Amino acid sequence: MRSTLITDIAELTTVDPEGRVLTDAAVVVEDERIAWIGPAADAPEADDRVSVEGRAVLPGWVDSHTHLVFDGDRSAEFEARMAGESYAAGGIGVTTSATRAASDDRLAELVRGRVADAVAGGTTYLETKTGYGLTVAEEARHARLLAGLREEGLVDEVTFLGAHLVPPGRDAEDYLDDVVGPMLEAVREHAGWVDVFCDTGAFDAEQTRRVLAAGVAAGLGVRLHGNQIEQGPGVGVAVEFGAASVDHVNHLSDADVEALAGTWAGWDRASATGTPGTVAGCLPACDLSTRAPLAPARRLLDAGIEVSLASNCNPGTSYTTSMNFNVGTAVLQMHLTLAEAVRAATLGGAIGLRAQDRVGSLEVGKRADLHVLDAPAAIHLAYRPGMPLTHAVWRAGRRAV
Ligand code: NIG
Repeated sequence: MRSTLITDIAELTTVDPEGRVLTDAAVVVEDERIAWIGPAADAPEADDRVSVEGRAVLPGWVDSHTHLVFDGDRSAEFEARMAGESYAAGGIGVTTSATRAASDDRLAELVRGRVADAVAGGTTYLETKTGYGLTVAEEARHARLLAGLREEGLVDEVTFLGAHLVPPGRDAEDYLDDVVGPMLEAVREHAGWVDVFCDTGAFDAEQTRRVLAAGVAAGLGVRLHGNQIEQGPGVGVAVEFGAASVDHVNHLSDADVEALAGTWAGWDRASATGTPGTVAGCLPACDLSTRAPLAPARRLLDAGIEVSLASNCNPGTSYTTSMNFNVGTAVLQMHLTLAEAVRAATLGGAIGLRAQDRVGSLEVGKRADLHVLDAPAAIHLAYRPGMPLTHAVWRAGRRAV
């Protein structure tokens, strides 16, 4: 077992149960885990020593919502939106055509490049989805690709999103027969989660229930895209199925907020223990890129709901893997404190992936996922928006950047 002392940390944001932020701190990493955290002056001996020379350190980002398997370009659609068009689900079909035409090698290269970008920006735990295949063979191909990358340790969680859009030219019910039948059968060994885009122009409540029920019967955990385009049944269905996360949540009724809050009754937020409810996944870059009202993260937190922040990297609504940008935006525009935004982008995402016992905070025994900023304090993420602040990254105890 080899140990490394990471020291001369000006500010260490732990996101631990006490929310400790230590100054003049050090961390000892043993193999892939954190073995010790405390004042630099008290640090034990280790095999290797790395000085971060007065920089800030925080947990690596947990990006709990991305769609990295895609090819093609939709910048013209984005440009039209910036000129006043509104976002509609139909654009998914454009990416689907381009993605189906890409070879295995090309798709793998594209996804690897996006993962590398994410890690270079401080992301150390990553969820990603299928959803631009929309045939049995293509969804299976994308799920296989992602499972291979998970095997290599490049991605952490794989989600099946066959119910992203009814492919152009297909009847909805007939397509769903495929989704809950041969498609699910082909992807279930590769995926840990089932997801549905439950919104206007995609799938309604009944169709969503059908897919989620089949996913649960196949042993998959539940997550959902909901309430992105307008108020609707997404949040209600997510709560009904005990979803780990419902993401987007731009358009919420009072009843939606109440229903989400009700799922957290058995959870102690301070210690992050108990029975977790349905996380509200906020996607600030997507909100800006679609000119949607920002998800009401402040209101959700005030109602006692765990919130996550994720990049939602995809070619239609959020073509970025930058969690630094999303955290800065949450502070600047969603009125989260820095501590709230950092927690949402680390532990919040981990809770939304039910991985909070392993990742999402800097605590002894957890995976050594560390993000070193080229700044003395984490508030620089919002104070200097858009600056290249990621200095170094350790992922599972290994220097990745
Ligand atoms: O999370 N909302 C559904 N899915 C993606 C967008 C997909 C696309 O437009 O290509 C999202 O925003």
